[in-house]
Amino acid sequence: MRLQHCHNFHDFRELARRRLPNPIFNYIDGAADDEFTHRQNTASFERCDLVPNILRGVAAVDISATVMGQKLAMPVYCSPTALQRLFHHQGERAVAAAAAKYGTMFGVSSLGTVSAVELRKQHKTPQAYQFYFHKDRDLNRVMLERAKQSGVDVMMLTVDSITGGNRERDLRTGFAIPFKLTFAGMLQFAIKPMWSINYVTHERFSLPQLDEHIDMGGGPMSIGRYFTEMLDPSMNWDDVAELVRIWNGQFCLKGVMSVADAKRAAEIGCTGIILSNHGGRQLDGSRAPFDQLAEVVDAVGDRIDVMMDGGVQRGTHVLKALSLGAKAVGVGRYYLFSLAAAGQVGVERALDLMRGEIERGMKLMGCTSLAQLSRKNLRFR
Ligand SMILES: Cc1cc2nc3c(=O)[nH]c(=O)nc-3n(C[C@H](O)[C@H](O)[C@H](O)COP(=O)(O)O)c2cc1C
Repeated sequence: MRLQHCHNFHDFRELARRRLPNPIFNYIDGAADDEFTHRQNTASFERCDLVPNILRGVAAVDISATVMGQKLAMPVYCSPTALQRLFHHQGERAVAAAAAKYGTMFGVSSLGTVSAVELRKQHKTPQAYQFYFHKDRDLNRVMLERAKQSGVDVMMLTVDSITGGNRERDLRTGFAIPFKLTFAGMLQFAIKPMWSINYVTHERFSLPQLDEHIDMGGGPMSIGRYFTEMLDPSMNWDDVAELVRIWNGQFCLKGVMSVADAKRAAEIGCTGIILSNHGGRQLDGSRAPFDQLAEVVDAVGDRIDVMMDGGVQRGTHVLKALSLGAKAVGVGRYYLFSLAAAGQVGVERALDLMRGEIERGMKLMGCTSLAQLSRKNLRFR
């Protein structure tokens, strides 16, 4: 199987599965507990039907969107994800370059393996910085200031990870940073030697967003310990209001689900919220963002930009979310599997397919601009 045989999410996933050592594949593919929420994220789109209009003159279609002050050539962005260097040796560099080529936003995770500052210098396309809240308030301030100086466009505070999700696949394989592989997990690396060769012949693994401030290198601080020892589970609305003031720019909360929280986010000056359950990796049993979208848009959509992520695999999923009032939609595994499959060209192919599906879907819906998408053209089963 090769990249040119990949025509959709499932094909990229399959190619990634063949290329990656199984503990790494399962880290991407897996989710929390019974993975119910993870399955619901995509299933929720399947409970909604599109009702097209015809004969509307759709020769030219504009799929550009503006979200959080950023002009995007397509309404899909690459949501921040950790550890991309493990999925392909090009890591975040591949994702940033592909996002720039397709004129869309990419997010860099606090647990990213390439420096957000380097990526900012390299590419003009909108860049978000995904932030976790540390116990050390000075550290938070310094990190925000550093991101601001480097020209990051959007600050994205993840609020659904106040404690780690129960990822049982990782417990079975021993996936952790640094690696604590089980014997079975080690065997899986041995049978994928190409991955290991690429890994050791390229730049050393590091977490530059954190290395600047915290001793993560050489393994004294595992990611597990980083979460339990450095991050602050007492974070509350006053803390976030303070961060919003310090940042003084486009600031969104990633992982809002309730209407009450969406209203509070608007009140403290956030300019956007992302409905998200972290791809089902945190609270299993929680609602799918698409199911929750309409009521949140109705409550705050006139005050702040509402985005969503989770389970998006198709252009038609994006059209459904936009029809309910989302301003843009994030993807995670969709581009991670394509990254693992083939690096930058893989992500480019995934974004190209997504753009094509959105354009085709718009034409078939009888729409020439995203503003024409509305709830009138949706029916729920
Ligand atoms: C392997 C992996 C790593 C992730 N790392 C982060 C992260 O570091 N920070 C964060 O806010 N979200 C992270 N996410 C969540 C994504 O940003 C996004 O919310 C989620 O993947 C969307 O669901 P989808 O994968 O079904 O598209 C991660 C997701 C995956 C699959």
